[in-house]
Amino acid sequence: MEIKSYLNEQRLFIEKAFATYIPEAKGDFSDHIQAMRYSLTAGGKRIRPILCMAAAQAVEGEHVDPQDLLPVACALECIHTYSLVHDDLPAMDNDDLRRGKATNHILHGEAAAILAGDGLLTWAFDLLSNPAHGTLSSDKKLRIIHIIARASGSLGMVGGQALDIANENKTFPFSTLQTIHSSKTGALITASVLAGAVGAGADEKQLTALEQYGKQIGLAFQIVDDLLNATATTEQLGKTAGSDAELGKATYPAYFGVEKTRIKAKNAVSCAKDCLTEFDDKAEPLRLLADYIYTRSH
Ligand code: IPE
Ligand code: IPE
Ligand code: MG
Ligand code: MG
Repeated sequence: MEIKSYLNEQRLFIEKAFATYIPEAKGDFSDHIQAMRYSLTAGGKRIRPILCMAAAQAVEGEHVDPQDLLPVACALECIHTYSLVHDDLPAMDNDDLRRGKATNHILHGEAAAILAGDGLLTWAFDLLSNPAHGTLSSDKKLRIIHIIARASGSLGMVGGQALDIANENKTFPFSTLQTIHSSKTGALITASVLAGAVGAGADEKQLTALEQYGKQIGLAFQIVDDLLNATATTEQLGKTAGSDAELGKATYPAYFGVEKTRIKAKNAVSCAKDCLTEFDDKAEPLRLLADYIYTRSH
């Protein structure tokens, strides 16, 4: 399997599902929904929903009905997109470019951008809990909702974002850096893998292995984000390069330098693949995704 065509195919599949699962910009709230849709449809690699589908495939192969997991996949992308909209706000990273376009607050104003983020986050839980979507049992749905809620909130992504902001321009111990990365980015990535696995009926042993896989690729993902911020161009990234150093962020390159950081990212990817030894060929996409997370250029 070729990773580029796999990613492309999966991305289009997820984006097609937005038409079913994301409200249309019409009626009383059309401006608000338009602002939500602006960031959601601006592009993006769709890695979290793709991981969710790939984890389900690793567990159940061809037997997974993708329709059952598409609402979950779309919900993950809504939560991720909300986190980007808020991350870019003037009070946070104050960025004006995201996914190659003007950030939400630049185009719609701060209040509308905050509300677009609120809308995306809440819509995710509407999607996850809507009995009309898919045929997953209520038991599985509840488990998935808890995994995603826990990963997105104060003990996960939101907590990590708070620590990231609080540690700007500070000297920080390595343990703080690890906590920032595992919570602001690793938690939702791990939850994406686990949500797909639970949906596909993974047993506890499989879930333990996939949780470790998720943690390692989540770490690698944020390390590479830091590396690209320090080494790539704004054109290549579709977001502002060099901003981490400017804001005095707690990053791996700031702590270890670029070369050591590259090795750490590579090691995390290799640990991630080691977690998949019990899985057969159906986990090939998960293995390729781990490699892609290291080799990606944006
Ligand atoms: C960027 O995430 C923010 C982080 C959590 C590192 P992505 O690199 O997945 O961004 P998009 O979705 O492709 O724009
Ligand atoms: C973003 O981290 C993490 C979340 C949005 C949860 P960064 O601030 O490092 O990501 P970019 O570089 O702006 O995408
Ligand atoms: Mg940030
Ligand atoms: Mg940022």
